[in-house]
Amino acid sequence: MDSIVVTGGNRLNGVIPISGAKNATLPLMIASLLSSEPLILENVPHLADVESLVRILTNHGVDYRVEGKRKQPNGCDGRTIHFSADDIVDTTAPYELVSKMRASFWVIGPLLARMHEATVSLPGGCAIGQRPVDLFIDSLAALGADIKVENGYVIANAPGGLVGATYAFPKVSVGATHVALMAATLAKGTTVLENAAREPEVTDLANCLVGMGARISGIGTSTLTIEGVEELYGYRHRVLPDRIETGTYAMAVAMTGGDVFLKGAEPGLLQSALDTLVEAGVTIEPKNDGIRVARNGAALKPVNVSTDPYPGFPTDLQAQFMGLMTMADGVSDIQETIFENRFMHVQELARLGANISVDGNTATVTGVKTLTGAEVMATDLRASVSLVIAGLVAEGKTTVSRVYHLDRGFERLEEKLSRCGAVIERVSG
Ligand code: EPZ
Repeated sequence: MDSIVVTGGNRLNGVIPISGAKNATLPLMIASLLSSEPLILENVPHLADVESLVRILTNHGVDYRVEGKRKQPNGCDGRTIHFSADDIVDTTAPYELVSKMRASFWVIGPLLARMHEATVSLPGGCAIGQRPVDLFIDSLAALGADIKVENGYVIANAPGGLVGATYAFPKVSVGATHVALMAATLAKGTTVLENAAREPEVTDLANCLVGMGARISGIGTSTLTIEGVEELYGYRHRVLPDRIETGTYAMAVAMTGGDVFLKGAEPGLLQSALDTLVEAGVTIEPKNDGIRVARNGAALKPVNVSTDPYPGFPTDLQAQFMGLMTMADGVSDIQETIFENRFMHVQELARLGANISVDGNTATVTGVKTLTGAEVMATDLRASVSLVIAGLVAEGKTTVSRVYHLDRGFERLEEKLSRCGAVIERVSG
């Protein structure tokens, strides 16, 4: 298994191109199941999760074609991929495919809406909490689906098609919002989704669905109103920039010091995280085509954060921010409110010399003067990258194993960082 070896000590200086967002790409790819005409997605990142989802979609009968190499406006090499679900040949998503990635469960929405049936294995994904599927089941049942769970599969049927309804999510869920939104586009009549997730990836999906012919109002708010239509059409859509990748590199620069331009990043997608970095003493300068991040000499100030649904501080940046706070000049409290088991990086950061104690859903980080390289591993994507961030300043070598987690969500991580001066390499074996 590959590992990433980081030798700490260098500042980061230069330009990092920001890729298309993983968490927008996945639901957008799944939306291709809603139409018999092709959905063309631009700026699709090269990621293991994208490849996994391609396998799932092709199993349903989706054809896909990658356009030849094109220069991207931000210097990234995001691909343009055509997804064509002209003929859906299979409405079952089997365990061996779905268990690798939770988002693959989301095919249940479009399959049910267009084919009136879906049998989808209960999902897998990062082990960051219990991650039930009750909100998916309840919202689809509200749209008239008959749903049962048997032998590890969710079996959903709506013989006469889905019917619009009002459904209020008891808890904000990104995935359940994506699914209910996709399902409602082809339901008969009007659906109102209340307490819907407002994450930019939901907005990106909604905008793409509108381009495909869906009638959706309230986009970007917590109440989405969808007037069902008979069918959706082909469309060409550009995936929005990855706000979590943006925030991760911003925190890496904050950690090492230096001056980096995050090309193609959109500050409005992660304002709360950028505000937090400013509080920590980092210079953040939004520009027309990206964000400049710099820290020159000044000490990092400790800042307390609590994760929250958008527009709050994203849970997907919590581990990275904790990595940063391990070197702050004082004590910070980091509260995780979205997932109940998202502190797995704590004991690995401790191996590098961090001083962190956990009480329930709050981690208290007491900044230290130095971190020291060690062998570490992580069991989820964002936790892994927090170890890379810490490794960038740790004295000596930090070896992060289980790199497949990083490959799920960070495109060319070691190349992007080494171009800015980091000493980082992938070691096979
Ligand atoms: C999405 O996961 C993201 N994944 C996650 O990013 C992200 O951490 C999360 O949203 C929160 O922002 C993708 O977009 C592919 P949720 P999702 O449903 O949709 C509970 C990453 O690293 N819940 O918003 O699975 C759930 O247990 C990943 O890129 C229920 O209780 O998250 C959690 O506590 C990790 N019942 C909360 O809601 C349900 O039926 C929010 O989860 C569904 C969810």
